[in-house]
Amino acid sequence: MTHYIIQTVSREHDTIDFLDTSPAQNRIMPQTFRIAPSLLSADFARLGEEVRSVIAAGADIIHFDVMDNHYVPNLTIGPLVCEAIRPHTQAPIDVHLMVKPVDSLVPMFAKAGADIITFHPEGSEHIDRTLGLIRDSGCKAGLVFNPATPLFYLDHVMDKIDMVLIMSVNPGFGGQSFIRESLNKIREARGRIDAWCAQHGGEIWLEVDGGVKVDNIAEIATAGADTFVAGSAIFNSPDYAGTIASMRAALAQAQAA
Ligand code: DX5
Ligand code: ZN
Repeated sequence: MTHYIIQTVSREHDTIDFLDTSPAQNRIMPQTFRIAPSLLSADFARLGEEVRSVIAAGADIIHFDVMDNHYVPNLTIGPLVCEAIRPHTQAPIDVHLMVKPVDSLVPMFAKAGADIITFHPEGSEHIDRTLGLIRDSGCKAGLVFNPATPLFYLDHVMDKIDMVLIMSVNPGFGGQSFIRESLNKIREARGRIDAWCAQHGGEIWLEVDGGVKVDNIAEIATAGADTFVAGSAIFNSPDYAGTIASMRAALAQAQAA
């Protein structure tokens, strides 16, 4: 059953447009945007329904925040909950591990139907090994950077990365304010990704997580992000579809500018 689901979602991945990183175009602005609502702000008593609603409202990805009360000062959800929501959507489940250690959870989340697994470099003693473990388990792999964590952790592992996730708040809680310095980090990450992809090919998504709202999403995209986690902005709004549509309109406007 689980194997079937992972295969199905993998096929769906093939249909998602990746960034046009053609060096000739020398683009900063991504061409394809993805909205990833964070379940952290959803109603946990109605999680399956929330997943279905937010995807029906136009979201692309389900962002799944895992906190361990050790690496971050909060405790959330694990592989059993991932497995429980898996049948509710064909959309990719993007598991953000805010845990230490990381490795033992990777096969558990892969088996539970995760499509993307990201972790913080501070959470793993052997970053290269953990990235390999994630890909070997059939998932896309990514590194997450806290506001004060430098990007040099990417230096020797770009070939093992499918996603870079820039935290624009300190991890642990939803509803915090966007830290503006993260715009500089997004620009730097975009430069690294474009340079790598121009030379080696492949696709690497650049995701931003924390304080993303309708009124700042355009500025974040202009800095180079293509994938936007939004928890409170979507789940605390009365109209998920309206909020996601407003985000897309802001992105389209920024793209046209
Ligand atoms: C924070 C989490 C985020 C969080 C975002 O540690 O990783 O995914 O849910 O929430 P908002 O969008 O409310 O800042
Ligand atoms: Zn997150």
